[in-house]
Amino acid sequence: MIIRGGGGAATNSPRLRRRCASVTFPAMALRPNLEPEPMLLNVPDEAGRLKWPDIFGNDHPVELEIGAGKGTFLLGIAQAIPEHNFVGIEWARAYAEFAADRLRRHQQTNARIVHGEASWWVRCHIPDASLFALHIYFPDPWPKARHHKRRLIQLPFLKEVHRILVPGGKLRLVTDHADYFAHMQEVLNGQTDLKVVPFESPVALKPGAPEGSIVGTNFERKYIAEGRTFHAAMAVKPE
Ligand SMILES: C[S@@+](CC[C@H](N)C(=O)[O-])C[C@H]1O[C@@H](n2cnc3c(N)ncnc32)[C@H](O)[C@@H]1O
Repeated sequence: MIIRGGGGAATNSPRLRRRCASVTFPAMALRPNLEPEPMLLNVPDEAGRLKWPDIFGNDHPVELEIGAGKGTFLLGIAQAIPEHNFVGIEWARAYAEFAADRLRRHQQTNARIVHGEASWWVRCHIPDASLFALHIYFPDPWPKARHHKRRLIQLPFLKEVHRILVPGGKLRLVTDHADYFAHMQEVLNGQTDLKVVPFESPVALKPGAPEGSIVGTNFERKYIAEGRTFHAAMAVKPE
């Protein structure tokens, strides 16, 4: 079931309200007795664009992961780079709650999880020039041609990426899906706001990471075990 919500100052025209309506999956706990609070950010639609220092209590650089899943990458990078803040957006409530509970158990105070749809959340809540990096790893590939329009990486989305990154901020993409990667490259090469550069790892991999790891996510580990090939791209907002 898809539930749509919305309203408030940021969404006060019917058209904007439709564009900014949250889309959520029903809850389906992955573990009993999860305690996602206080790491699960509860942002009302009407909150508009956020001020990161209000959330983290400091003005450290902020990095965002879209499609954080169970939070494996987010927890790892938040532990590795304590002088940065991290936010993960996850569409599936069960995963968002699991990841937030995991951050709470590790007392990872420089990271938060948001339950929401990323393109809506970015547009409605992320301030201009406020992100040091954006991580998108193994996004849903939507393989059927009639579903390609649902793919996250599209030209209008890259406009938003350019808006939210600080000058010098980096977008990193990794996928196992060759056709989606070809689409990503086409979209990246069809714009001039972001400069395509060779991919660099966002963080040193943990000791014991399986051979072939690039970023250290849950799906990456699963796909390495299946012998899949990965494709990675990076783009920078010019200074
Ligand atoms: C294939 S999984 C990858 C998860 C994680 N990045 C990893 O590599 O283990 C894709 C994740 O993105 C989430 N997702 C898909 N579309 C999304 C969207 N529009 N906004 C937020 N999350 C999304 C899915 O719920 C799922 O957890």
